[in-house]
Amino acid sequence: MLRRLHPDQPKTFAFTPANLAWAEAQITKYPEGRQASAIIPLLWRAQEQEGWLTRPAIEYVANMLGMAYIRALEVATFYFMFQLQPVGSVAHIQICGTTSCMICGAEKLIEVCKQKIAPRPHMLSPDGKFSWEEVECLGACTNAPMAQIGKDYFEDLTAEGFGKMLDDMAAGKVPTPGPQNGRFSCEPLGGATTLRDMTGEGQNGSVALASRIGDTLKRIDGTEVPLIAPWQGKPAPKGAKGKATEPKPAAALPADKTGISKQEAPATSAAKPATQGATKPEMLAEPKGAADDLKKIKGVGPKLEAQLNTMGIFHFWQIAAWGQQDVAWMDENLEGFKGRASRDDWVGQAKALAGTA
Ligand code: FES
Repeated sequence: MLRRLHPDQPKTFAFTPANLAWAEAQITKYPEGRQASAIIPLLWRAQEQEGWLTRPAIEYVANMLGMAYIRALEVATFYFMFQLQPVGSVAHIQICGTTSCMICGAEKLIEVCKQKIAPRPHMLSPDGKFSWEEVECLGACTNAPMAQIGKDYFEDLTAEGFGKMLDDMAAGKVPTPGPQNGRFSCEPLGGATTLRDMTGEGQNGSVALASRIGDTLKRIDGTEVPLIAPWQGKPAPKGAKGKATEPKPAAALPADKTGISKQEAPATSAAKPATQGATKPEMLAEPKGAADDLKKIKGVGPKLEAQLNTMGIFHFWQIAAWGQQDVAWMDENLEGFKGRASRDDWVGQAKALAGTA
C-alpha cells in the first residue's frame, strides 16, 4: 500500500505543555547522541494529540530529536499505526481481514463500514465522526471476527451487533470492549474445560481495566494521571489541554540534507574516538590521465564524487595510500558526509579497486 502524506495539511503543529513535558521526559530515557530512538513514542503522542500524523507534526518531532525530516518521514510512512490522513473524530475502526476473521465474517463487517461510514477505507464519514480501514491479524484470532476501535479490541462480532455498536458510538455511548457474544475471554465457545476460574470483576482483566479507565475511544491528551517521568523524579505538569506551545526545538535542525543528523554524527564519533593529529592527504591539481570512477566505492554517489574531485581526489590509488590520519582528516572535512571515509572503509575498498589489496 502506498503511504503518502495527505494533500491537505495544517500550517503548524506544537505539543501542548503537558505533552511537551512528557515528550522531553521520554527523550531522557536514551543516552546522549541516541535521542532519535524516541521517534516512535513522540510521533505516537503527536498522533494522539491531533488524531492523525500531520506533516508539521512529523517535522516538529524531527526537530526535537535533531533528525533529518526524511528520517522521521521514513518512520511515519513505514508503520501502519501512524495515520497519515484525518480520521473520524469519534473513532477510527480497524477491521481485521486476515484468515480467521475473514472466514468468520470480516467481510460482512467491512460491508457495514462501507454502508455506515464511507465506501472506501481512510475516508471520513459524511459527519466526520468515523473512518475505517482493513488491517492485518491483530492477534485475537480465537475471537474472530474482531475489530480494534481506539485502544480496545471488540471481539466475536456480528454484522448486526457491530452496526449497532457504530450507532451507539455516534450517539455518544462508549461500548464495552472484549467478546460480544458472552464469552469471558478466549475460552472455547462451548465453555472452558481447563482454567475454569473466571472470577474477577465479571469481565476478563483487559476488559475490566478498559471499562474502569474508560479508555477505548478516548485519545491520550496529556491529562492522564499520573503522567510522570520517574527517572527524573518529577511529575509532568497537569492542565493538559492547555494552549499549544510554540514549536520549540529549532536548535536541533538537521545537520545537513543528506540524512545525517546531528544525533547521528556525534554518535559516530563517540563510537570511534577521533584520531589524534589528523593530516590532510596529498591532493592533485588535476587527474593523472583518466580519472577513476569513484562512485565504485560503496557509499560514494555523484555528489560526493564531485566533492572529492573538487578537493583534488581523482584516483583509487590516492585513497588506497591514505593512513589513519589522512582518513581522520577526510572524515572531518567531507562537507555533509562527515565520517564516511572510515565508516565505509574507503581505503580498503580503494585498495581492492586499485588492485593493490
Ligand atoms: S485473523 Fe483476525 S485477529 Fe488474527
